[in-house]
Amino acid sequence: MDKEELKRRAAARALDEVRSGMKLGLGTGSTAKHFVELLGERVRDGLDVVGVPTSEVTRADAERCGIRLTTLDEIDRLDITVDGADEADGKLDLIKGGGGALLREKIVAAASDRMIVIADESKLVDTLGRFPLPIEVIPFGLAATRRALQLAFDAAGCAGELKLRPGKDGHAFVTDGGHWIVDARLGRIPDAPRLAQLLSAIPGVVEHGLFVGMASTLVLAGATGIRTIERA
Ligand code: A5P
Repeated sequence: MDKEELKRRAAARALDEVRSGMKLGLGTGSTAKHFVELLGERVRDGLDVVGVPTSEVTRADAERCGIRLTTLDEIDRLDITVDGADEADGKLDLIKGGGGALLREKIVAAASDRMIVIADESKLVDTLGRFPLPIEVIPFGLAATRRALQLAFDAAGCAGELKLRPGKDGHAFVTDGGHWIVDARLGRIPDAPRLAQLLSAIPGVVEHGLFVGMASTLVLAGATGIRTIERA
């Protein structure tokens, strides 16, 4: 089955959890975009929800779909965030940020009672790390931050190469928050919670793409159907 069709099915399953009156976090990426489009159809049929987008791209998509938007300055908590992932393991820990929106995605997920992750089944891995780990950094002092990152990888039992994410016209990719991203090719992250802690302690790191203990439900769409994994 076509991968886009699988992503749309996972998105449709997450939509079953949405009720009128809910406040929703709207994720970023190709799978989350399916959710926004399906949500838009329901809104046009009368569903009353309000959303907080996790990127400027998602904001534009949601506006185009007629979804009412708000901000975390105007409301306290969200009922559910629905977002994609670049990788997920069986404990529901994630790598996110392939689309560069990890900072807003993490802020919005942390402000939500539930985080539903939607994906095609190829995103499920035994051990996180095959997908390069995105790390959002401050441009100032980048070389010092890179050295601190290598020390953190050593301490967490990983090894790998760091690459500054390229953007347009030979410049670095710039996030919605005005920062840069370095992608760490680690291959295998044996202890994601430990690495997450070490990365968060580096001054030049704004945020990293390890989402540990945040997802409540993982919806995986495969050729044989939909599988849902709940946090234990
Ligand atoms: C955006 O920054 C990412 O965290 C995405 O949620 C993640 O990369 C999944 O994207 P796809 O649904 O396009 O694979």
